[in-house]
Amino acid sequence: MDRIVIEGGHRLRGRVRINGAKNAALLIQCASLLTDQATTLRHVPILSDVATMSRLLERLGCAVEGDRTLAIDPAAVAQGSLEAPYDLVKTMRASITVMGPLLARYGRARVSLPGGCAIGARPIDQHLKGLEALGAKIQLVHGYVELRAKRLRGAGFVFDTVTVGGTQNVMMAACLAKGTSRLENVAREPEVQELATVLVKMGARIRGAGTSVIEIEGVDALHGLDHSILPDRIEAGTLAVAAAITRGDVLLEDAPVDHMHAQIAKLEEAGVQCRVEPDGLRVIGPEQLEAVDVATQPYPGFPTDMQAQIMVLAACARGQSLVTETIFENRFMHVPELARMGADIHVNGHSAIVRGPTKLSAATVMATDLRASASLVLAGLVAAGSTEILRVYHLDRGYEAIEKRLRKIGAQIKRYHGARA
Ligand code: EPZ
Repeated sequence: MDRIVIEGGHRLRGRVRINGAKNAALLIQCASLLTDQATTLRHVPILSDVATMSRLLERLGCAVEGDRTLAIDPAAVAQGSLEAPYDLVKTMRASITVMGPLLARYGRARVSLPGGCAIGARPIDQHLKGLEALGAKIQLVHGYVELRAKRLRGAGFVFDTVTVGGTQNVMMAACLAKGTSRLENVAREPEVQELATVLVKMGARIRGAGTSVIEIEGVDALHGLDHSILPDRIEAGTLAVAAAITRGDVLLEDAPVDHMHAQIAKLEEAGVQCRVEPDGLRVIGPEQLEAVDVATQPYPGFPTDMQAQIMVLAACARGQSLVTETIFENRFMHVPELARMGADIHVNGHSAIVRGPTKLSAATVMATDLRASASLVLAGLVAAGSTEILRVYHLDRGYEAIEKRLRKIGAQIKRYHGARA
């Protein structure tokens, strides 16, 4: 298992380009199942999660080629199993979003239930209720969801809770339903909007993406597309925090500024300069950061996928910050690891009080999930000494070669393959 070693205390300077968004790429890979025509995706991030989704598409009968540019040919899916197996779904929950496309396109699907996750229970009840509203017959058999519907029919559905994946799964299914669907209390994330843009490019009729109500007029068939994935607002946010906490000056090329308002507002509140420039977002860290209270919310609120990273900023800031996690019930796994580096953080239920500024000191720490591992990399950038991060496979799920990109802007960071000698 790879590990990463970081020598802290170096200011970050220079420019780095933001990669395509993981959480957009994964869903667009699923959308390719809605047609039997070929799809080409560009600016695809090279991540283990994207590779897992490609493997799932291959299991379903697709031909998948490339990495930065992905060519997907779903022509043979009709003859396939229409099944998303446990061994893949358990490694990546996003696999369940093949459910809507398979059911809508082929009239049936068999998808493993994802099981538990490090950051929360993460049920899929809203996905199933939404597909049932469109006429799907659903059974849970031996750990699998079996779905059937000759042809889905348009319907109204109100989500009980705002869910990104649920919105995307049901929206994709509704594209091939007979009649019009009206989905309410939907997620408004940029990745939902991007998926709607892609579906419309494939021939779908969708209105309202980005608002809390989406209407979809079903069509009989969709066609393939050639599409370039939008930049990743969470990767950009993570690198922005890296610049901020190292008193750095970094230009994030192609940063999707319009999708980062909540993040930028909190960075500025902490004393960080965020300048929108023609090529991207320039982030300049102050000599002293100030405490900032943050509560995660569905978009356009502050993203839960930046909670762990902003907690490191709070540990470096002067004063007491309150960080509240409202989306997932168990997303403070990074706290005990940051405490090993000397951070002063007290968790009480869904909130954590972070006192600073704390001089973090290097230690060997363990990554527990994707964004928690990003926070450990950030802590390592400012800690005195050499921090060693174990289980970096978590990091590789959502950050492409992060050590190379940080080294490019001045970090002293190295990856070691395999266990310590
Ligand atoms: C997406 O997960 C992202 N993943 C997550 O990013 C992100 O944290 C999350 O949205 C919230 O922004 C991808 O896009 C692949 P949800 P998703 O359904 O769709 C509850 C990362 O780090 N819920 O919006 O699974 C659920 O338990 C990952 O890149 C139900 O109760 O999230 C949670 O508390 C981690 N029933 C809340 O809703 C349901 O049927 C939000 O979950 C579905 C969800």
